[in-house]
Amino acid sequence: MKVMVKSKSRAAIASSTLCAVLLAACGGGGDGDGDGGGSPAPAIPPPDPASAPAMKTIFASDYLVGAAIPPNFTTGTEATVLLKHMSSLTPENATKPDTIQPSLAGSPSEPGPMNFAPADTIVAFAQANNIKVRGHTLLWHRTAPDWFFKGCDTDPAGCLPNVRVRLHDYIHNVMVHFGDKLYAWDVVNEVVAVDPNSTTPYRTDSPWYRVYLDAKNAGANVEPWDYIEDAFRYADEARTFLGLTNTDLKLVINEFNTEIPGKRAHLIYIINDLRNKGVPLDAVGHQMHLRIDANVAEVTAALVAIENLGGLENQVTELDINVYDDPASCGTSGGKCLPDYGSAPPQSMLSRQARLYRSLYAAFKRPSVQSVTTWGLHDGWSWYNQLPGARANYPLLFDAAVKPKWAFWAVVDPNLSIP
Ligand code: GLA
Repeated sequence: MKVMVKSKSRAAIASSTLCAVLLAACGGGGDGDGDGGGSPAPAIPPPDPASAPAMKTIFASDYLVGAAIPPNFTTGTEATVLLKHMSSLTPENATKPDTIQPSLAGSPSEPGPMNFAPADTIVAFAQANNIKVRGHTLLWHRTAPDWFFKGCDTDPAGCLPNVRVRLHDYIHNVMVHFGDKLYAWDVVNEVVAVDPNSTTPYRTDSPWYRVYLDAKNAGANVEPWDYIEDAFRYADEARTFLGLTNTDLKLVINEFNTEIPGKRAHLIYIINDLRNKGVPLDAVGHQMHLRIDANVAEVTAALVAIENLGGLENQVTELDINVYDDPASCGTSGGKCLPDYGSAPPQSMLSRQARLYRSLYAAFKRPSVQSVTTWGLHDGWSWYNQLPGARANYPLLFDAAVKPKWAFWAVVDPNLSIP
């Protein structure tokens, strides 16, 4: 095991900042009935890891089983566990625009050289071992290097054609680089308004939205949300260029909090609008960053709502279970955070989490669900260890020593009694 607790990825920092300031993001609210605090009973060891069945085999007829990983998980202990259990991998940050083509050092408005090496490491590992890969993500407001928007400060309408060419070429180059080695691309990530009650379904605090809006206000014939349509059309064009179809490579709209009805309604509005315009869209990615008090019925409702639209697949793209049921804003506007479990997570919490994971993996068994990916492999490498501040979290199926937790056992053996 090479990477351990408290190492902080750039995306983890970005997302934790986001979640710290937005109540609804990453699970707002909190019913206060969590297991935080008290004097924990010592945890009961789960069954012998050597007897663990392979997850990818257990779910072979249901969906691909995946994990989002950094490149260095392709060797050592993590690699061994990935090879045994996973049929899908997602590069955690390696296929994001600020990794693949950040701005040129010292010249933010110029593109730097393309950097495929981190992603290629993961893809080569996956290919050599018959594991599929999903790409994440071609467009995200948090990883939008300035070079995309060069010239927009001074000429908001005149820059738009150039912005579109840059987005087109970036998507083309990236998709062509990976070709048929990926089975899905999150074309856009988190384009839906964060607030379920917002009057617009669109996220407005995105540089993409703002640049298109500024162009409209300066007289261009465009809507601020047209960047979403552009991204999908460019992705579809690249797919056709590659000789691939929607059977080989799914174009996905990826979103968080789809289990919250208001947020889901915004997403569905956007999907319907895109499809009415003939925009190619094959699947919905449900991030599923859940908390220990998650409602499985709402999770199922999110999947069913997409099925009811017809012709779309579901993918669970970033599943994890935050074991603290305080709001992501605790410590800032949300008041005090629940006490840190430290290195001694109580069995009551581990059991509660195991039962929730069991229900979730069962709820995902629907023909529409193509893949179920956890955001990370083990508890030692999770953004939740830094959200809302440094605090030991236990969000995944494997512990920090990459050993199966009770959550793992609950998922792979529905009959096993959980202590
Ligand atoms: C979001 C993004 C991911 C990742 C996670 C956690 O959900 O889609 O790429 O950054 O936050 O950090």
